[in-house]
Amino acid sequence: ARLVVLVSGSGTNLQALLDAIDADPAYGARIVAVGADRDGIAGLERAERAGLPTFTVRLRDHADRAGWDAALTDATGGYDPDLVVSAGFMKIVGPAFLARFGGRIVNTHPALLPSFPGAHGVRDALAYGAKVTGCTVHFVDDGVDTGPVIAQGVVEVRPDDTEDALHERIKEVERRLLVDVVGRLSRDGYRIEGRKVLIPA
Ligand code: GRF
Repeated sequence: ARLVVLVSGSGTNLQALLDAIDADPAYGARIVAVGADRDGIAGLERAERAGLPTFTVRLRDHADRAGWDAALTDATGGYDPDLVVSAGFMKIVGPAFLARFGGRIVNTHPALLPSFPGAHGVRDALAYGAKVTGCTVHFVDDGVDTGPVIAQGVVEVRPDDTEDALHERIKEVERRLLVDVVGRLSRDGYRIEGRKVLIPA
């Protein structure tokens, strides 16, 4: 499967996918491009180091969100992906993007959805006093972190946890979960039936 990965930050989820693809010729997917909503991030450096094409679509370069959404859709579409992986991409894709890639966009979120959706899932779980949290890999629909769940991983919250310490522990689970899910979707195919994701084998 052809993957386009979208990033906004350090890109360690991207790196986990790159490493898995390098390590296993039978992984069943390859990254054809990496996109971002901002320049100067480690995620883009990781992509360049891997010799991958990159593109950046910045909100401020467009008159409005619709213009940004259209530009992101065109840039991503130019690489003809089978699957789009949002790995720490911190923007909500719009109607144009969903119309083009809906049902083929996988997102990873650092909380156990439907708990703690949005941009501060780790901080919110900690502030709430949750005893366990974790990460969710799901398909993107027209809501925010509301699409059909593919896989989840649980991480214990420790009494002395800071947001960063907890997020790092979550990311260890998240990277393994994302690599496993993307590989299975790519190799085995899948069907989405309502809120259920069916992956044969
Ligand atoms: C991940 O935990 C992702 O779920 C969240 O931000 C983090 C991105 O990490 N949205 P990285 O850029 O893949 O290192």
